[in-house]
Amino acid sequence: IKKIAVFTSGGDAPGMNACIRAVVRTGIYLGYEVAGIKQGYQGMIDDNIENMSRHSVSNIMQLGGTVLKTARCLAFKNPDGMQKAYENLKKRGIDALVAIGGDGTFTGAERFSSTYDIPVICVPGTIDNDLYGSDFTLGFDTATNTVIEAIDKIRDTAESHDRLFFIEVMGRDAGCIALRAGIASGAEAIMLPEKDTAISELIDLLEHGAANKKSSSIVIVAEGDKNGGAFGVAKLVKEKFDFYDTKVTILGHLQRGGSPSSFDRILGSRMGYAAVKALINGDNRKMVGLRGNEIVLTDLKEALTDHEFKLEDDLMEMSIILA
Ligand code: F6P
Repeated sequence: IKKIAVFTSGGDAPGMNACIRAVVRTGIYLGYEVAGIKQGYQGMIDDNIENMSRHSVSNIMQLGGTVLKTARCLAFKNPDGMQKAYENLKKRGIDALVAIGGDGTFTGAERFSSTYDIPVICVPGTIDNDLYGSDFTLGFDTATNTVIEAIDKIRDTAESHDRLFFIEVMGRDAGCIALRAGIASGAEAIMLPEKDTAISELIDLLEHGAANKKSSSIVIVAEGDKNGGAFGVAKLVKEKFDFYDTKVTILGHLQRGGSPSSFDRILGSRMGYAAVKALINGDNRKMVGLRGNEIVLTDLKEALTDHEFKLEDDLMEMSIILA
């Protein structure tokens, strides 16, 4: 290996910049050239690539988003797009990759690396925390903190007006953000894609709260919930239970932004450093992950296999007992 290129792809996540910085600085420290590819796979196809120096990643640690920009690129899914990307890398002497993103990014990396025999190490960067092989993904901690802060604010107004709020949070098909943010904000109920909570059960819970003089209530709805998100759940509840004045808030993309938490800054740094070390050690088509407090590598094929996605049993049970 002579020259490593790093890129971010898919949805941005706080902590990606810490990871980019770690890849660049570790690579240069160990005597390799490092390049940054802009806009993920799209930049590979468009030859939107820059050589990086230690200095080019100064003062980015604290920034949300990704300084390399990101995109969801369809052109890379076809052989012509991949071929063009390969030619651009070759022209620039790039012979190894670090890809930061989610499962779409990993699928592209797996295919590209096995077609063109270019080593790649992936880093899990997504607020959803839905990847096999790592207890935490980059951005999840910051996004959850952002959600908690938003719910606390909504709680103030909900309580002042005696209202019931349905708050929808991101996470795609996973309920990780919803579950943790729900517990940490003391939500009265959490609707998760991983658990089929009947609307009648939710109504019982809210009725019980009202009977016990709860003047406001907050229901967190994961965007992957099967009842049609927060609007869907609110509609179904309102048909049978209209004790409270009801409001719906979709938190949306504010959950993706903001300065990364210390956890995400350190995780990003650790994972970027580990990704470069793995490439140098001859590892290929692997994902860096955190298990317990250890950095581990998982084969990309294994990471991409359909594993049953599970939320922590104790958190699930606790979320009901403590609500
Ligand atoms: O994967 C991260 C995520 O923010 C999901 O939680 C959400 O479903 C999706 O991306 C939104 O994607 P986009 O920003 O392309 O609308």
